[in-house]
Amino acid sequence: MGSVTCNPLAPPSTHLLLNPSKIPKFCHSRRQLHGSQRASKIIAYYGLKTPPYKLDALEPYMSKRTLEVHWGELHRGYVEGLNKHLAKDDVLYGYTLDELVKVSYNSGNPLPVFNNAVQVWNHDFFWESMQPGGGDIPKYGVLEQIEKDFGSFTNFKEKFIGAALTLFGSGYVWLVLKREERRLAVVKTSNAINPLVWNDIPIISLDMWEHAYYLDYKNDKGTYANVFMNHLVSWNAAMSRMARAEAFVNLGEPKIPIA
Ligand SMILES: [Fe+2]
Repeated sequence: MGSVTCNPLAPPSTHLLLNPSKIPKFCHSRRQLHGSQRASKIIAYYGLKTPPYKLDALEPYMSKRTLEVHWGELHRGYVEGLNKHLAKDDVLYGYTLDELVKVSYNSGNPLPVFNNAVQVWNHDFFWESMQPGGGDIPKYGVLEQIEKDFGSFTNFKEKFIGAALTLFGSGYVWLVLKREERRLAVVKTSNAINPLVWNDIPIISLDMWEHAYYLDYKNDKGTYANVFMNHLVSWNAAMSRMARAEAFVNLGEPKIPIA
């Protein structure tokens, strides 16, 4: 924790303002330091993680205004909602965000915690699934794995964009690594559901909630999905996620540099 300023009596939003880039933060009540007092409430707070680029950096494909609303208001709202629930429920203390998503989903209850936790996770992941100057063709092992599992990169793109166009209602399209089957797949999820709950490993995501595209593309989901694939998707992010995932599922020869 080191230099993190932590006032356990302050509302979550104060922590967000003081420490926007560090997540999660664990805030121990000062009362815990005094043995004479029994109460030792421990609260976990999550911060609003910033996208890894400026809010206007994805223009003209995704506008600054969309980022201001989508990240600055909606994503922030999920973080604040999550912190509000965590402040009320000690049982949820100490989980990483990944664990919190799985635990709150598997238990089936409380739903508001899952919805907020998973949407924080989903949006962190979505911002990092894009980059300025994105799109193009993936490099290195990612392209090989896509060609192996989809036949060709063109087939993969068609499948991904097709999934976006056929998704009913709000949700996400994902490129995932199926842990058990040891292959990549395109999956779509409704509302806030995230493939982590099925033990799959997300590699890329596309937010298909209306708020993600309406300001820039109105109801034209097709253009939005194509623009994402051709100009925004970060194959660098996919590559590092794949590299991490390979350690889990042992897809092929280890590619870890030997010191
Ligand atoms: Fe969203």
